[in-house]
Amino acid sequence: MDAPLRLIVVGAGAQGRTWLALFANDPRWTLTALVDSSPAALNEAATQFDIPEARRFFNALIAFEQVRADAVLVVTPPETHRVISVAAIERGMAVLSEKPLATSLRDGVAILRATRMRGVPLMVNQGRRWLPHIAALREAVLGGLIGALGYVVCQFNIPVRYGGWRTTMPEVLIEDLAIHHFDTIRFITGRNGQRVYAHSFRPSWSWFRGNSCASVDLLLDGGLPVHYFGSWVARGPRSSWDGELRLVGEHGALVLQADDSIWHYANEDETPHPLALSPLEPEGMLCGLDHFTQAVRRAVPPAPDAEDNIHSLALTSAAVASARTGQPVQVDAHMRAAGWSPIRPMGRRTRE
Ligand SMILES: NC(=O)c1ccc[n+]([C@@H]2O[C@H](COP(=O)([O-])OP(=O)(O)OC[C@H]3O[C@@H](n4cnc5c(N)ncnc54)[C@H](O)[C@@H]3O)[C@@H](O)[C@H]2O)c1
Repeated sequence: MDAPLRLIVVGAGAQGRTWLALFANDPRWTLTALVDSSPAALNEAATQFDIPEARRFFNALIAFEQVRADAVLVVTPPETHRVISVAAIERGMAVLSEKPLATSLRDGVAILRATRMRGVPLMVNQGRRWLPHIAALREAVLGGLIGALGYVVCQFNIPVRYGGWRTTMPEVLIEDLAIHHFDTIRFITGRNGQRVYAHSFRPSWSWFRGNSCASVDLLLDGGLPVHYFGSWVARGPRSSWDGELRLVGEHGALVLQADDSIWHYANEDETPHPLALSPLEPEGMLCGLDHFTQAVRRAVPPAPDAEDNIHSLALTSAAVASARTGQPVQVDAHMRAAGWSPIRPMGRRTRE
């Protein structure tokens, strides 16, 4: 049996502790260090997961100098991701990064370039991809169940009071939440973005300082329109966490109303039929952990890696830019302005 892979966890907050519990119970991994800039968060989690004093750090860069590891889990607030991820990659350590890859597209591109230069695997936890209902929608759409797609509508309505750093994020709905929905829609349709037109706002009762609602029109490859609305401060009935998602094609529609119910409407029939979901084993974050473990063991790109995820980050970044200017944003030009370039064909690689 292979020796356990060594992991440094950076961030011991809410999501960090969820990951710690999964890694601590996985014999393929051993925790070699825990980092958190807050002494209270660090000591509480380190005690819970039996991490000795010598392996507790307040600073990721110091931990990287003092402790050897195969991989780093980055689960800190988004504005810290670039520094931590790039430092890990430059030391040859694989990275499992929480979404979003970075706060700005420019920072995301810097991380992507570091992975290209070092050939180190980096996976982003866009964990909605590893849920059976999302996998079933992708299979149905790409398998042609409703024919050529004509349009997509997604409406998210759930009030959330997380507190902490999200309270002051200027575009909290787009940057913290819509990244999930845009990534899911890219995953289900197999298309990247062409153009984004967004309007964000803060209703009078909002408990966020930034914009907690947004309306975004996306145009995906092949001219596929996506109409999106999201609210973190919703009133009335709740949607699913993936939004109420309606994919409409020439041969019918697929409608997600709750996580375990997808309805298929064939052609013009208005009677819904449930779409069968195949179990994913394992599903959710455990599935992500499996993907990441395989990628680190075999030094192969995980899915979604930075090459893929940069296209989801580009959509949220373009939406923020559009909301600020009131103008539509062309995604390819927006990505290139942030320093992104497509991977060059083999044999024609030039230095980045
Ligand atoms: N994929 C998902 O569904 C999902 C769900 C929740 C959170 N997240 C993501 O996880 C990340 C963390 O979110 P959270 O909810 O756990 O936040 P949190 O505020 O609960 O925890 C963040 C922790 O990071 C620590 N920290 C801040 N700056 C640091 C630094 N420079 N070095 C070391 N530690 C530092 C804080 O002290 C805190 O303990 C975010 O990127 C968030 O978007 C993803």
